[in-house]
Amino acid sequence: MSGAILGVETSCDDSCAAVLSAEGVILSNVISSQAIHDKYGGVVPEIAARHHLELLTPAIDSALAQAGLGLEQIERVAVTQGPGLIGALLVGVGQAKAIAAARAIPLVAVDHLQGHVAANFISPDSFEPPFVCLIASGGHTLLARVDEHSSYALLGETLDDAAGEAFDKGARMLGLPFPGGPALEALAAGGDSEAFNFPTARNVKGFDFSFAGVKTALLYAIRDLGEEEATRQRADLAASYQRAIVEALVERLERALDADGCGRVAIGGGVAANGPLRERVARLGLESHIPARNLCTDNAAMIASAARFLPECSPAAALALDAYPSGARR
Ligand code: KG4
Ligand code: ZN
Repeated sequence: MSGAILGVETSCDDSCAAVLSAEGVILSNVISSQAIHDKYGGVVPEIAARHHLELLTPAIDSALAQAGLGLEQIERVAVTQGPGLIGALLVGVGQAKAIAAARAIPLVAVDHLQGHVAANFISPDSFEPPFVCLIASGGHTLLARVDEHSSYALLGETLDDAAGEAFDKGARMLGLPFPGGPALEALAAGGDSEAFNFPTARNVKGFDFSFAGVKTALLYAIRDLGEEEATRQRADLAASYQRAIVEALVERLERALDADGCGRVAIGGGVAANGPLRERVARLGLESHIPARNLCTDNAAMIASAARFLPECSPAAALALDAYPSGARR
């Protein structure tokens, strides 16, 4: 297959490999999750890095096998360069460099957040710029204006916790397993989202977000109810907390869309797998694109998708490629 791209993503605790055709169609998308972190209530960076060493090569083998291709048929390698856990990233970067060097094929370095945006460019259901994009994940929450396939302009971002972090921390307070988002969504399905009035940080100006307040509000609500009553009202607490996070995201998104006027919206990042958020965005009445759930949470297909529109590293730059950690921006 000409132009096939191998994507590699190891920024957190999922060892991901995917093969995309030159046209951006998914030929395989393998996600090997490290269940071990649940035991610690969050991702332990050192353990994540060590597990990538074990899991990444088999994930790449599976991605090639499922695509029905040999390594000799891959024409580009795309890898997440950052931001993320540095040890975890280095495993993917090292592996991708080795494949590119051994096969003498180009390497493309991809920013993880650009990858979340590029989940919207995957064929056959691709969404073309311009659009306003909400990216909400475990480490980041931002609004961007996307005018071209290769970059975005930042409109606003969280001033404290990311939306996914708020889901994870709230889930932990409610005694749910990690990662908290899916568990909290499941618990919330049986609860009343109007039972508690949690804040949405509407007073934060512009297109920035803040989730510190809603997290503290949940903590105080649980404390004020007492253990027994909080357990009895767990589903209502979860539903109300989820509603506050979703409303905070959609309020900012609507502000950005009002100011922008392009009338086109897309979402991405792990929190974009959340059912109520997906419904709210679909109901905005605009031209919208909501990637499949498994393309919102971390995956390597989105990294390969971003690489279709990015420059290749020169051979010397490929060999010298370094990763950049959380908080750093390219
Ligand atoms: O993008 P992602 O897979 O990894 C990062 O780049 O961080 O996002 C992971 C985050 C976690 O905080 C997780 O709890 C959240 O996305 N998440 C969800 C759902 N699925 C994953 N949050 C709410 N509802 C979900 N269904
Ligand atoms: Zn992510």
